[in-house]
Amino acid sequence: MSFDVSANAYTRFMGRYSEPLAARFADLAAVRRGQRALDVGCGPGALTAELVRRLGAAAVCAVEPVPAFVDAVRERLPGVDVRLSAAEQLSFPDRVFDVAIAQLVVHFMADPVAGLREMGRVTRPGGQVAACVWDHGGSRGPLTVFWRAARELDPSAPDESGLAGVSEGDLARLVVQAGLGVPRAAALTVRVRHSTFEQLWEPFALGVGPAGAYVASLAGEQRRALREQCRRLLPAGPFEVNATAWAVTCRIPGQVSRARAWPWATTRRSLTYATVVQYQIMRWFSPEETTTRPHERAPPR
Ligand SMILES: C[S@@+](CC[C@H](N)C(=O)[O-])C[C@H]1O[C@@H](n2cnc3c(N)ncnc32)[C@H](O)[C@@H]1O
Repeated sequence: MSFDVSANAYTRFMGRYSEPLAARFADLAAVRRGQRALDVGCGPGALTAELVRRLGAAAVCAVEPVPAFVDAVRERLPGVDVRLSAAEQLSFPDRVFDVAIAQLVVHFMADPVAGLREMGRVTRPGGQVAACVWDHGGSRGPLTVFWRAARELDPSAPDESGLAGVSEGDLARLVVQAGLGVPRAAALTVRVRHSTFEQLWEPFALGVGPAGAYVASLAGEQRRALREQCRRLLPAGPFEVNATAWAVTCRIPGQVSRARAWPWATTRRSLTYATVVQYQIMRWFSPEETTTRPHERAPPR
């Protein structure tokens, strides 16, 4: 797997984009104190750290299939229940989380529909499933320039545009296929500053993800050509990369959350009380009609 790398390598390569994304994504999923959350495909913990900041370590669980990332999150965030597992087979009972959330993971799942279905299974009715992936299918992902340069040099270069969920509307379709309910779609953009081209390029040599694996597969001369092609497509001095992710949130059907339920419950209680009081008043003011049954009335004279 192209994520069989150190946590440090991942953080240098992708963490620079996924860390700022985590706060935006947690906002979108309305993660707030009092909830219990599961981070699916946590990597070295960019989103897990954001969940811990909002909910406390005891309220956060995480799963990840790469052992080095599991170890890194356990060390970085003591108190979080981190398990070595893939999304498609979660080792949690049904309906135990308020939020199940996967940042930049669905397109790497062996079976994205099964993974999302499992996220729905462990989320309580009224809770939220949320997922996001970079816009690899369009032209606004953090690796768009890299893959454009690779394709210009080698039209058969495997980019990430064919992966599940990476084009507009894909994630929502997967959520519907997983039977989770009605998805709400959004796009999240983060701006990441690079001081020099070298600072952007160097982590591509660390072998992380499909882009890193592609660089590692090239011979020295081809690798240098790709670096120069990327350099030509980017501005010279300090520059920003705008990275956009497609996101969906989906409320699991069933009982509504307590926060949404209380105004309605209170209104219903008040209406019932008002009806009972009104009935009592009617009985006091028309005793004949309401307290005496017809056969008990005195016969007409
Ligand atoms: C791009 S990284 C995202 C990591 C982290 N969520 C973040 O935002 O930085 C993708 C992660 O998904 C994990 N992954 C791959 N297949 C998975 C699966 N079937 N279930 C859960 N996680 C998976 C990878 O090991 C990797 O850590």
